[in-house]
Amino acid sequence: MSLRIEERKNIQVSTEEITRQRQFLEEVKQINYQKELKTGRKKLYHLVTFGCQMNENDSERLAGFLGEMGYAETENINDSDVIIYNTCCVRENAELKVYGHLGALKHLKEEKPELIIAVCGCMMQQPEVVEHIRKKYRHVDLIFGTHNLFKFPELLYTAISSNSPLVEVWETAGTIAEGMPIERKNGVKAWVTIMYGCNNFCSYCIVPYVRGRERSRSMEDIINEVRMLGQQGYKEIALLGQNVNSYGKDMKDGTSFAKLLYEIDKIEGIERVRFMTSHPKDLSDELIQAMRDCKKVCRHLHLPVQAGSTKVLKEMNRKYTKEQYLDLAARIKNAVPGIALTTDIIVGFPGETEEDFNDTIDVLEKVRFDSAYTFLYSKRTGTPAAKREDQVPEEVKKRRFDRLLEVQNRISREINDGYMGKEVEILVEGLSKNNDETYTGRTSTDKIVHFKGREELIGKLVTVRIEQVQTWSLFGTLIEK
Ligand code: SAH
Ligand code: SF4
Ligand code: F3S
Repeated sequence: MSLRIEERKNIQVSTEEITRQRQFLEEVKQINYQKELKTGRKKLYHLVTFGCQMNENDSERLAGFLGEMGYAETENINDSDVIIYNTCCVRENAELKVYGHLGALKHLKEEKPELIIAVCGCMMQQPEVVEHIRKKYRHVDLIFGTHNLFKFPELLYTAISSNSPLVEVWETAGTIAEGMPIERKNGVKAWVTIMYGCNNFCSYCIVPYVRGRERSRSMEDIINEVRMLGQQGYKEIALLGQNVNSYGKDMKDGTSFAKLLYEIDKIEGIERVRFMTSHPKDLSDELIQAMRDCKKVCRHLHLPVQAGSTKVLKEMNRKYTKEQYLDLAARIKNAVPGIALTTDIIVGFPGETEEDFNDTIDVLEKVRFDSAYTFLYSKRTGTPAAKREDQVPEEVKKRRFDRLLEVQNRISREINDGYMGKEVEILVEGLSKNNDETYTGRTSTDKIVHFKGREELIGKLVTVRIEQVQTWSLFGTLIEK
């Protein structure tokens, strides 16, 4: 097996490098074309993403490369010529899922030796994971990481033209690769990653170890991408980063996330702008002001609190207290009336007592989040919290988790009840999954709304009167103007 784990620093990913990758892309395209002529069958790929929106956005880049190489996507694993798993390691269950999938592919690879099985993403940035896959899942052909995703054409070309498995993971990130192709999943909403990495080292979290330090894309590159999206007919943009509030800090030239929002707000064609994630410690008054001023910025903010107890927050290395968070939430609600706040919460961080947990419940009751993503604390090897001996027993975690859900579901439902009978503006995203006349859109506050509609409404802002309310979604009737 050819193993390349690179430890180079400050790698420049120049435009020449991207051009070189395009040459590999052409090579694979030619190989595929020749094979298609012989077999009369298009080459197919199957791509599964396990992680966050940034991982999804990376997968859209992989899909972009694959599309240009002449592959079409398939849902059916058995038909695939290339199978790629883009992995996540933020919690243990995300990792276990990947191993389950990989194990199930062994037979397929035996039946179809020319099949290429590739694994990439955050899990691969951990040397012990790569080692485990090399030993236990010998049918995997290609392993690469998050930092060298732009080299996918070269790596795939090498994997196709040789019989031995290939591993290439970079320990540190190079400069940001611009100019890669992309194939977006949705025609109305587009994700735009504005920065990579994280410097915060929350004591439970693996992300800084696998995604590296914060690197911001240039304002010019981002604005050009959004302008192009506006011209292509996209209506909504979601700006992505582990902590978008620290966008631009690494450039040391006064660039800030608030300044970026003002610029994006001016771009023609785009109707709505969202962003995530915001770290409470970095949420500036300048940004609150920008959210208020920018017409296209949605009235929704995802502001992970993680825990309610000041003691736990300190041990999590979050750098704010319960009171500071409550004060921040109140200031945002004051500045942007009607704004929806959503959050992430971890239950059962080491040393969490019943009293600490009650502080989390207290924050839910006081802030009244529209919704919360709740997670059982998961031990991540290499993080400071994993070494602690005062881990919370599973059954205690589960009991607290259920109580948390109960409280949050009630609050979500109460907030949704407030929509009953109201007229709301929604951006229509497409057909609802279970019905061929029901369409789905979202309010500025990120509520999912189902209504009876027509295909030509997709991508349009329409008004709907809410007539039925559930905990997770609203139902309404279109008001024709
Ligand atoms: N950068 C973002 C999100 C990072 S990961 C932020 O800071 O908010 C998404 C969520 O996963 C986190 O907000 C956190 O709630 C959760 N998470 C991260 N590490 C975890 C762990 N070890 N166990 C359980 N949940 C975790
Ligand atoms: Fe993880 Fe904290 Fe960074 Fe979010 S801010 S990615 S939780 S280290
Ligand atoms: Fe997971 Fe990596 Fe995102 S660890 S949450 S896919 S940055």
